[in-house]
Amino acid sequence: MSYKKRVTLAVTGASGSGYFLHLLKTLLVSDCQVYLLLSDAAKIVLATECDEIWPDDLDALNIYLQNRFTVNSEQLTVLGNKDWFSVVASGSSCPSKMVICPCSGGTLASIAMGLSNNLIQRAADVVIKEKGQLIVMPRETPFSVIHLQNMLTLSKLGVVVMPLAPGFYYKPQTIDEIQLFMVAKVLDHLKIKHSALPRWCDAIQ
Ligand SMILES: Cc1cc2nc3c(=O)[nH]c(=O)nc-3n(C[C@H](O)[C@H](O)[C@H](O)COP(=O)(O)O)c2cc1C
Repeated sequence: MSYKKRVTLAVTGASGSGYFLHLLKTLLVSDCQVYLLLSDAAKIVLATECDEIWPDDLDALNIYLQNRFTVNSEQLTVLGNKDWFSVVASGSSCPSKMVICPCSGGTLASIAMGLSNNLIQRAADVVIKEKGQLIVMPRETPFSVIHLQNMLTLSKLGVVVMPLAPGFYYKPQTIDEIQLFMVAKVLDHLKIKHSALPRWCDAIQ
């Protein structure tokens, strides 16, 4: 089966894992093939913020998420943190599009330094070197000079730095609607059609 787009989606241990859950669901509903990467800290934040306790075992996690989102193993694959033989670890096989949502200050720094200490950092390093499309979604406040410098470094490399800073002009009524604002921004940048939110011109009335 061929999907509209192949996307690597990574979630790290910054606050805002609800954004990630909406983004994953929207990508799958939009007929994207998703390679999913989770940091250890991301699992802690998911449990803390969203009461999402996910299986530690990779095979069990794959089955759990495929059942939950009613997709097959081709459309959604969760990869291990050190799976250096996976498709996302090499420029010859990785998707050209990658999103890190949310992106911790630690992962931001590691990518800006090119450390490639885990599969998330390596996959980002590969997308940058292959001149693909990388979107990082940092969440911290206030930003320190370290964060800002790392964002500038990545932005100069062509990475889209999209802080988790939703707008409120469309008068969101729920947390879900606030989170969908950012999801819509990501899909717009990836040029994936969606109906997550009304457009600017339709929202202001
Ligand atoms: C509940 C919780 C919320 C956190 N929120 C943030 C945050 O908003 N931004 C951030 O940069 N780090 C945050 N952290 C700290 C990161 O999880 C920590 O620095 C971790 O080492 C990041 O590792 P990772 O980038 O591999 O996920 C938070 C940690 C926890 C437990």
